[in-house]
Amino acid sequence: MPDTQTVTSVTHWTDRLFSFRCTRPASLRFRSGEFVMIGLAGENGKPLLRAYSIASPNWDDELEFYSIKVPDGPLTSRLQHIRVGDPIVLRPKPVGTLVHDALLPGERLWLLATGTGLAPFASLIRDPETYERFGTVVLMHTCREASELEYGRRLVESLKDDPLIGEMVEGRLLYYPTTTREASPRMGRITDNLTSGKVFADLGLPAMTPGTDRAMICGSLAFNLDVKAVLEGLGLNEGANSEPREFVVEKAFVGDGI
Ligand code: FAD
Ligand code: A2P
Repeated sequence: MPDTQTVTSVTHWTDRLFSFRCTRPASLRFRSGEFVMIGLAGENGKPLLRAYSIASPNWDDELEFYSIKVPDGPLTSRLQHIRVGDPIVLRPKPVGTLVHDALLPGERLWLLATGTGLAPFASLIRDPETYERFGTVVLMHTCREASELEYGRRLVESLKDDPLIGEMVEGRLLYYPTTTREASPRMGRITDNLTSGKVFADLGLPAMTPGTDRAMICGSLAFNLDVKAVLEGLGLNEGANSEPREFVVEKAFVGDGI
């Protein structure tokens, strides 16, 4: 089948989250933060495809994805069982708004995610261009429980020893994970930690301003709308590929969540 790639590794993080890597088509070029359609062959011969953010950076030889497991989801009820060597369908047409081209230059980049909304930022925090464009990068990731933060936590931890970007992230990538329904060192919704000023105080940063701060938002529709309102209240405006501004938004999934 055309557009078939091969799974090279699979890691299960919780009973609802896993990540996997696969081969990368030689011709695939993408901008860190973009998404593609991936899936599995269907019973009727037509592939069952869904949008997935590419979690790996654009310099990586392979592709990485970070996925939910929806128990009765048409794709992920099957995708969660993939193993090394299995085929996966990948349409090599990357698109998306969570890209540097959609933001004006600035001093600080805020990456604001809940759940699997972390995936595009897992790509962007591994891209040297992110550190060429911004002096400080803040990754805020919020989940209900601590175990759901583990993929991101391990990734950030691993960057210190990365030969390509280890030196760039030193002191410049600020990681701010929080939980909302289980006790952990840092707690609270991203919206609350921004409006109360807690995150600025904790990280020793000035409050966001349109002159210095840029942001990318990726979570549920409700999260995206609420964060957008907070940022607009601080004077930032939404941009797009065709009109770069102070922040950009993309849905981590369609629907109400599970
Ligand atoms: P679906 O029928 O697609 O979804 C069933 C229900 O499950 C949805 O109505 C929703 O309520 C819930 N749901 C779906 N996806 C999620 C999720 N990620 N987190 C929480 N609840 C969810 N999913 C990923 O796991 N990783 C990604 O990187 C990713 N990137 C996306 C990028 C874009 C631009 C969009 C629009 C969606 C993205 N998704 C991602 C969601 C993905 O396309 C599928 O919805 C998901 O894989 C579930 O597929 P499914 O066929 O099993 O269930
Ligand atoms: P909370 O536990 O307070 O609802 P979900 O699993 O429902 O998608 O939520 C993922 C994370 O995003 C949870 O920590 C949740 O906090 C948070 N969250 C959900 N909706 C919003 C919102 N509208 N604004 C800010 N945070 C949200």
